[in-house]
Amino acid sequence: SLKVNNTRTLGMLVTSSTNPFFAEVVQGVEQRCYELGYSLVLCNTCGDTNRMQAALDMLQQKRVDGMIVMCTHANLDQSAFAHHTTMPMVMADWGPVELNADLIKDSGYEGGRLATEHLLALGHRHIGCITGPAGQQASDERLAGFRAAMMDAGLTVTPDWVQHGDFELEGGKAAMARILARPQRPTAVFACNDLMAAGALRAVADAGLTVPQHMSLIGYDNIELAGYLVPRLSSIEQPKAILGALAVDALLERIHHPHAARRVLPLSPSLVIRESSARLA
Ligand code: RIB
Repeated sequence: SLKVNNTRTLGMLVTSSTNPFFAEVVQGVEQRCYELGYSLVLCNTCGDTNRMQAALDMLQQKRVDGMIVMCTHANLDQSAFAHHTTMPMVMADWGPVELNADLIKDSGYEGGRLATEHLLALGHRHIGCITGPAGQQASDERLAGFRAAMMDAGLTVTPDWVQHGDFELEGGKAAMARILARPQRPTAVFACNDLMAAGALRAVADAGLTVPQHMSLIGYDNIELAGYLVPRLSSIEQPKAILGALAVDALLERIHHPHAARRVLPLSPSLVIRESSARLA
């Protein structure tokens, strides 16, 4: 039978469109869709597996030509994807190897190393890390990069200074408050995304301290806001618009060549130095 599957509509699942990182990637996706004459149906999963399942079903019913999955939340239920094996799919910013789908992401391990090596190069030895929820790929990779850089520098990681946040403002603020409540505080902290770094900045100010005089800080993602905080936030750049455009291109490739071998497209994280990270006085 002739299979007609061309609505020139793509679907996209995103954990939360209020996180500026995701918003900037979505912008890149939408721009590329516009250039190519495709429409986009965007679904927020809010990090909820049931909602993700419902969105997957809905997109399939709408006969989208394929979908981009950017669901970086923890404990993603892979069985949710089992019913959709025929749907062309590209994982963006996230994706377990077991899912045999095309994947575009940066190496959080490399990015975590870069951030930590920057703080080490500034003379810091007492360094903390505000990571995301345990079990989430971005948190685990970035934390592993932090640990590796510390180990390579011959330093031990102080468990009190490794605190889990939620990749949002409030979790970053709370995590920094916990670090500052310890009898000794680190001189520098790597926050595993810029939103948590912004929350952490607030906690440092609430404690009557100043970044970078009392505490150096670096984030991750390099969202637009990073250059507008006081002080301007150093960060690890993820090429968000490029990630979005590449995801669309990879998905169209997949749609046209459904049986091609799985592709993994790595993106390189890079260091952006601003005012929040300074040489140890
Ligand atoms: O899940 C949130 C985080 O994961 C984002 O801020 C971005 O860093 C992504 O990789």
